[in-house]
Amino acid sequence: MLKTLYRTHTCGELRASHAGETVILAGWVHRRRDQGGLVFLDLRDRYGFTQVRVSEEENPAALAAASKVRPEFVVQVEGEVRARPKEARNPKLATGDVEVSARSIKVLSESPTPPFEIGGGDVSDEIRLEHRPLDLRRPEMQSHLLLRHRMNKVIRAFFEEREFVEIETPVLAKPTPEGARDYLVPSRLQHGKFYALPQSPQVYKQILMCAGFDRYYQIARCFRDEDLRAHRQPEFTQLDVEMAFVGEEEILAMQEELIVRLLAEGAREEIRIERPIPRLTYDEAMLRFGSDKPDLRFGLEIRDVSDLGKKSDFKVFHAGTVRGLSVPQGGAMSRAEIDALQPVAAEFGAKGLAWMKVGGSGGHGGPVAKFFPGATLPEIFGAREGDLLLFVADKDPIVVAKSLGAVRNHVAQARGLIPADKHVALLVTDFPLFEPGEKPGTWVCTRHPFTSPRADDLSFLSTDPGKVRCQAYDAVLDGVELGSGSIRIHRRDVQMEVFRVLGLSEEEIRHRFGFLFEALTYGAPPHGGFAWGLDRLAMLLTGATSIREVIAFPKTAKAVDLMADSPATVDPEQLDELGIRLN
Ligand code: AMO
Ligand code: AMP
Repeated sequence: MLKTLYRTHTCGELRASHAGETVILAGWVHRRRDQGGLVFLDLRDRYGFTQVRVSEEENPAALAAASKVRPEFVVQVEGEVRARPKEARNPKLATGDVEVSARSIKVLSESPTPPFEIGGGDVSDEIRLEHRPLDLRRPEMQSHLLLRHRMNKVIRAFFEEREFVEIETPVLAKPTPEGARDYLVPSRLQHGKFYALPQSPQVYKQILMCAGFDRYYQIARCFRDEDLRAHRQPEFTQLDVEMAFVGEEEILAMQEELIVRLLAEGAREEIRIERPIPRLTYDEAMLRFGSDKPDLRFGLEIRDVSDLGKKSDFKVFHAGTVRGLSVPQGGAMSRAEIDALQPVAAEFGAKGLAWMKVGGSGGHGGPVAKFFPGATLPEIFGAREGDLLLFVADKDPIVVAKSLGAVRNHVAQARGLIPADKHVALLVTDFPLFEPGEKPGTWVCTRHPFTSPRADDLSFLSTDPGKVRCQAYDAVLDGVELGSGSIRIHRRDVQMEVFRVLGLSEEEIRHRFGFLFEALTYGAPPHGGFAWGLDRLAMLLTGATSIREVIAFPKTAKAVDLMADSPATVDPEQLDELGIRLN
């Protein structure tokens, strides 16, 4: 099927059934082994590897050519497919039962010695990114990008079956409210004015709902100028979805179907997950796992022992909220290992990390032991002899939750408690709409400001914004936030009220979101949707540790493309045209 001017077959195609056929292959020389009078070339392309055998005896001209080729030369080989003798078969290779006995070898292009061997050992990330064209030749990178292609195919089929319309939205846009810094593009025709690259298609997709498109999706590029923490890139890809005339439950159900389908058909091997996908409210997730994106592949559940703490003689535990978790057989951890957990907790504001080794009749160990003799405390955690209890106390329950959440993840990783081949999805619901801003008395949105408050919390908008929960939900996979979404506000008055809580003036609202308001004014349908980070999903499906591994041309933590060397300086004339002077 892939026969072209240059080849009859690909390097992944030949099997024992082709024996005796004359074929032409084209590809890269992966390796060359010279056995004196006999040369083996491993020929590589996107589809696989094929062994080429060149013998002096059978074909001296081909041997002369083969002796000159080096790794990464592009060559065309004509020859006969031969079954390999039994002992020479390579079961690890799809083409391992055969080899091509070369009649002629033609060099299509040469290569100097590459900076690293394709498929070779350790190469630094920097070198890999700098020489990305070579790095992308590695079978692992090829399989990652092919997986992304498969994911997109599954996504398109899924939404096609459900009558969604794929619509593109502008990249030269207006600032959008996802909470990161915008990338700006200066206008040449109107000096002093700027486009913003979209942080997401959020506003546009809502307008499409107002325009009557009813079911929209897009595989959209998004841009956020933020500090690049784990699993973030300045430009990344969202699967962006919006629907009109639906409720929260229907959107959650759709996400469940989609994730199940993507895991079954998108990955190389079918990945199964527990169904129905577990759900937790935000409050429950924070209380039991100390995170709004808990990793449920392991237990280590957090328990609240504030009451017991209050009644004890341990002053530290009089702080207000006291919670802890039990590490199975963590009693075996050394003092140094336990001390190493302190900074993990401290990063989220914990003032300490108290611990106790659960003992038998001889009593417990560690600084907390003397305050809690007996079995009461271990029983709360279902802890047994040899387990380690870890506690954080603070007046702020959020500090306690987040600190223990970080300790939970850290300990699970360090103690090897995360099963390798398991994937657990989770839907988190009922997020708060606002959280206190930096200045006392101010509020900021925890989501974007178009998120609909829950109907029963509407009255808190004017009285106690901190109490307003919203119809928002996150999809989580293996402790990574995969996506988020919400039912949107479709009433102008409610939207105005939310902006009022955020302290935006009428003028600001008109300037920033006037076009959305116009759309909401003339009859807006109830609507909602979600967006998933496809880079993150691909990372989880491939088992890669960084999203850079599943993006063809990613940027470093400093937002630099090492291959293209961008960002780069520009000609002074270009700046002149844009009316920009650098200082
Ligand atoms: P949100 O801002 O949560 O929601 O983004 C949705 C998902 O996009 C992914 N993501 C990223 N991936 C890589 N690098 C980044 N810098 C990055 N930032 C976000 C995450 C995240 O869960 N418009 C709303 C969605 C909606 O309400 O429909 C939005 O963009 O996986
Ligand atoms: P101290 O009374 O300060 O000597 O602390 C006794 C133990 O309690 C030490 O192991 C501290 O790490 C721990 N600790 C101190 N403050 C806290 C806190 N806020 N939460 C949990 N443990 C704490």
